[in-house]
Amino acid sequence: MCGITGAVGLKDISNVLFEGITNLEYRGYDSCGVALMNRTGIIIKKNVGGVKDVYQKENVLRHSTKLGIAHTRWATHGQVTRDNTHPFVSCDKSFAVIHNGIISNHSELKAGLQREGHQFVSATDTEVIPHLLEKFYRKTSDVEASFMETLKLLEGTFALAFITRHEPDQIYCAKRESPLLLGIGDEVKFIGSDFNAFIDQTKNAVIIDDEEYAILSRNGYTVKNFVTREEVDKPITRIEWDSETSKKGGYPHYMLKEIYEQPQTVINAMEVEEKSIDRLVGLIQKSKSAHLVGVGTTYYVTLYANYIFSSLAGQYLPAISSDEFVSLSPVDKHSFVLAVSQSGETYDTLSALKHARSRGAKTGAIVNVMGSSMARLVDCPILQGSGPEICVISTKAALAQMILLTRTALKLGLKNNHLSRKGYNEHIRSLKSLPEIIEGVLNERSGFIHRIAHSHRNVKNWLYLGRGVYYPVALESALKMKEVAYVHAEGMPCGFLKHGTLAMIDSDIYSIVFIPPNSEKVLYEGTLASVSEIRARSGYVLGIHFDERTRDKNLFSEELILPPVAPVIAPLIQMVIAQLFAYFTATSLKRNVDKPRSLAKSVTVG
Ligand code: AGP
Repeated sequence: MCGITGAVGLKDISNVLFEGITNLEYRGYDSCGVALMNRTGIIIKKNVGGVKDVYQKENVLRHSTKLGIAHTRWATHGQVTRDNTHPFVSCDKSFAVIHNGIISNHSELKAGLQREGHQFVSATDTEVIPHLLEKFYRKTSDVEASFMETLKLLEGTFALAFITRHEPDQIYCAKRESPLLLGIGDEVKFIGSDFNAFIDQTKNAVIIDDEEYAILSRNGYTVKNFVTREEVDKPITRIEWDSETSKKGGYPHYMLKEIYEQPQTVINAMEVEEKSIDRLVGLIQKSKSAHLVGVGTTYYVTLYANYIFSSLAGQYLPAISSDEFVSLSPVDKHSFVLAVSQSGETYDTLSALKHARSRGAKTGAIVNVMGSSMARLVDCPILQGSGPEICVISTKAALAQMILLTRTALKLGLKNNHLSRKGYNEHIRSLKSLPEIIEGVLNERSGFIHRIAHSHRNVKNWLYLGRGVYYPVALESALKMKEVAYVHAEGMPCGFLKHGTLAMIDSDIYSIVFIPPNSEKVLYEGTLASVSEIRARSGYVLGIHFDERTRDKNLFSEELILPPVAPVIAPLIQMVIAQLFAYFTATSLKRNVDKPRSLAKSVTVG
C-alpha cells in the first residue's frame, strides 16, 4: 500500500507536491519518486529511502514545474531498490506512471510486451502500465484512447496516475479498489490516495469510485467511467479535518500525541449520535446472525466486543478476522456483518464486506475516515470522529471503536431486557468518566511506565495475559509491542498457560498480566492464580491492577496500581497503559516509532 499524489497548477507546484507526498509517507516509506513535466519532457527523480531523504539526495526541489506526480512505496513486488521505485517510464520515456495496488496479471502482460521488444528495468507489477500506454499510443496517437485500451487489460487492484509529454498539461488517473481522490483548489488541482495529500491546500475533495478515471488540468477536471466511457457527475465532498490536527503539535511522535488525545477521542465517541447506535442495534436485532469483522488491531477490537456483547447484552456476536472471513463466512440474507476499520480502506475487511453483500447480508462499519470505501459501501456507516490518526500504530482509533461497540452493546442489552435502565445509566456514567481518568493516569503514571519500559528494553520475549475481556486487551497490547518495538510478544488467555505455555516460563520470558478490579471476583481470582503459577516457576510478572489489597498479596515482580474504576472501563485503561509501555520500549530501543519497518497505515492489498 503506497501513497500516490499529483498536482497541476497555474503556478509552481514543486513545494505542494513535496508537502503532499510527505503527508502520505505513513502509507509506505521504502522508496520515493517523482515525475515532473518541463519544457523538454518528463524529469524522473527517485531513490530508496524516505521522502525527505530522497528529495535531498535527488535535489528534487531545484526543479520548478506546474505539473508533477509523486509516489511513496511499500514494496509488494520486487526488492527495495532504485530500479523498483516508481515512477516507471515507457521505452520512449513519453509516459511516466505511479501506482498503488497489485496488477495480478502483470506476468502475462510483461511477457507479451517483451516479445514485442519492450525493455523492462524493474521486477515490479506496475511497470507493464507505461509500456502498454506506449504500445497503444503508437497505434492511436490518442492518449485517452490508449488509456482505455490499457485499463481494459489490467486485472487486480489499482489507483494509478500518469503524465505524458504528448499532453504536458494533464494528469490522468484511474481507480479499482485502491483509494483515489481529487483535491479541487482554485489555483491547483490534486490527486491523492487520501485527504492528507492536499489537506493543507484545499478542503474540497472529489471521491473517485471503482472503474472511474479522471483527467485533471489547471483549469478543471472530468471524471468518466472507463467501462461505459460516460462522464460521471461527482459531488464535492468537504473535508471536516483541519491540517493542524494532522500535525505533531509539539509531541516527539504522532504515537505519543495520539495516545494523549484519547480523553478527547472518548468524548467524541460518546458524542456520536444516539440514532446511529440505535440503527446498529436495530440491524443486529433484525438479523438472524450478526458478525463482527476486522483485522490486526481492529480484529482485536471486535474480539473485545464479542465479550462485551455477551456480558452487557447477553448476545453472542462472533468476531472473525477479515482475512479469514471468506473461508468461514457463515452469512446469508438474514445476516448482519459489522466491520471495524480506522482507514476504511483495508483490503481484507473490504473483501469480507463485499462477500457478505454478495450473500445478501446487511452490512455496517465503524470507520474513522469519512468518504472512505467502506463508509460508502455499507448500509450503515458510523463515523467514529477520532480525527486523523497518522501513526501507523493504531491507538486512539481502537479505543474509540471499543467505546462505540460498548455503547451499542449497552443499548442492545437495554432493548432486549438483559440490562436494567439503572444498570444502563450507570455504565454510561462510567464511560463518561473515562476521559478524566485516562488523563490522570497518563499524567501520573507515564513516568513510572517509562522507567519500567526502559529498564526492560532488552527483554526479548513478553507474554501478555488476561482472562475474559482482558484476553483481547492482552492480544492488542502484545501487537503494539511487536509492531512498534519489534520485540516478540504473545497475547494469551491466562487459563491457557497450564495447557502448555507454562513449560516455556524461565528467566527469559517476562509476563505482563492485566488484573481486573476485585469486584469481578471470578476473573480476578482466576487471573491471580495464573500469576502464582508463573511466579512458582520464578517467572517475572508485571502486574497491572486496581487496588492496594492486591499489592499486599506481594505476588508480582513489579506492579502498576491504577485508581479504582468501574469494571466496564477497567480493560480500556489497562490498554492505554500497555500502549505507553510499548511506546517507551520503542523509544528506548530508538525505533522509528511513527513509521515502523515493513508496515503501513492502511493495508490496501490482499
Ligand atoms: C494497527 O496498529 C495496525 N496498523 C494494523 O493492525 C491495523 O489495525 C489493521 O491493518 C487494520 O487497519 P484499519 O483499521 O485501517 O482497517
